[in-house]
Amino acid sequence: MSSIPKILVINGPNLNMLGLRQPEVYGSESLSDVENRCQQKGTSLNLEVTCKQSNMEGDIVTWIQQARNDYDGILLNAGAYTHTSVAIHDAILSSETPVIEVHLSNIHAREEFRHHSYISPVAIGMICGFGTLGYDMAMDAMKAHLQK
Ligand code: DQA
Repeated sequence: MSSIPKILVINGPNLNMLGLRQPEVYGSESLSDVENRCQQKGTSLNLEVTCKQSNMEGDIVTWIQQARNDYDGILLNAGAYTHTSVAIHDAILSSETPVIEVHLSNIHAREEFRHHSYISPVAIGMICGFGTLGYDMAMDAMKAHLQK
């Protein structure tokens, strides 16, 4: 691990619409608010944080593949691809980089199609249901994991 661990925060499809999109489910904070929060949390934990967002599955696959060279850990909210993407599951396996799965909403308290995650079996852990606080919690968990 490098002296200052590098953490990649990836937000997937429709998370660019945060603040506008179903605020009763996802809250009123925008994606920039979330990313600023991740940066602040990273600074407080002495982690170097980079944030990316894409609506394209292939972008997310490529970023996860590349992370094996450039990052020590990944926080991933894959949005709806969580429930569909074998490609992201395989990319996590090939990247050999620890991934923590994050969801703003409690996916298990929602529609049945959200109950299955292709990410969970290949993540070191999953946090859901705590809104944007979940990213801070995941950052704490990643720091602890990297210190083990
Ligand atoms: C989400 C949950 C997913 O089911 C949904 O498709 C999203 C957001 C969440 O953060 O709660 O886009 O990942």
